[in-house]
Amino acid sequence: MKLFVALLAVGLPALAAAHSWIVCTDYLENNGWYWDEAKCRGWPRAATRYNLRFGKFGATNTYTHRLDHHPEERGLCKTSRDDDRSYDADTPMAAYYLGQKVVLPHPANNHVAESKCSYRAIVDTENLMFVVDGDEDPCCINSTKLIQIMDMGVSPYGRELSDEVLSTYPKPGFQNVPKFCEDPEDSMGTYNFTVPMDLQPGRHTFVWKWIRSPTVAPFTTCWEADVFATKAERDALYLATGRSTEDAWDFYQIHNIVDGVIMDPVDPSINEIITG
Ligand SMILES: *[C@@H]1O[C@H](CO)[C@@H](O)[C@H](O)[C@H]1NC(C)=O
Ligand SMILES: *[C@@H]1O[C@H](CO)[C@@H](O)[C@H](O)[C@H]1NC(C)=O
Repeated sequence: MKLFVALLAVGLPALAAAHSWIVCTDYLENNGWYWDEAKCRGWPRAATRYNLRFGKFGATNTYTHRLDHHPEERGLCKTSRDDDRSYDADTPMAAYYLGQKVVLPHPANNHVAESKCSYRAIVDTENLMFVVDGDEDPCCINSTKLIQIMDMGVSPYGRELSDEVLSTYPKPGFQNVPKFCEDPEDSMGTYNFTVPMDLQPGRHTFVWKWIRSPTVAPFTTCWEADVFATKAERDALYLATGRSTEDAWDFYQIHNIVDGVIMDPVDPSINEIITG
């Protein structure tokens, strides 16, 4: 038993440094600095089982899902589709409307190019969002059932880039982690994607795919969301389940940042909109 504990203690930090996953599938703040579970309205599959909501952000490493090399033996998703068991009152399924901008938080897990606290050459290779055609999980990441709906860009990295470029946020891609240097392991990054206007309303499976380095197999997170044609219909469901109907706001819209310090309040009328 002692040996087992010792192995765990040695093994975890190394594991923790090499992956990521989507923690929330409908977050209220884009480009935010710090995670706040109260801002999360929708969760990925099996979030309660993996303690994504009440665990420390970024510390639930067992939620990571890295594909193997083709032909894939591991499924596309961490857990297979099972809508009844994947969601509950603490970690409900998200609901979207056509054209909605959806914010997705994820832990940094050390993968940000920053000259002050990391290396300039930390790579970022591909950040994509897919929707699944049909009701079954596709076999593999190259399946024709996966329809790409957004390319979320790639973060700047490279030895030749200036400190200023590397420390300027927001950034496209994975490394949009403004407070990375405060906690390289567990700080929060966010992406956003837009729900396509031509998506058929109804329940869909969404898949995030991240290729960190071309030599490392892709990471994925899977979740379901009920997609409505209009915001009014989506709002009705969120109201009925005690969730906020606000649109995601942008951190930099509600905070006045001077030299890296929050200098609030900004325009009170904006704050009024945000706090309802
Ligand atoms: C996906 O990759 C596997 C293994 O390389 C290959 O056998 C399969 O044909 C590919 N499927 C598609 C749709 O490209
Ligand atoms: C949303 O994501 C896209 C793609 O990465 C990016 O170009 C855009 O700047 C983001 N929007 C905001 C407001 O951050």
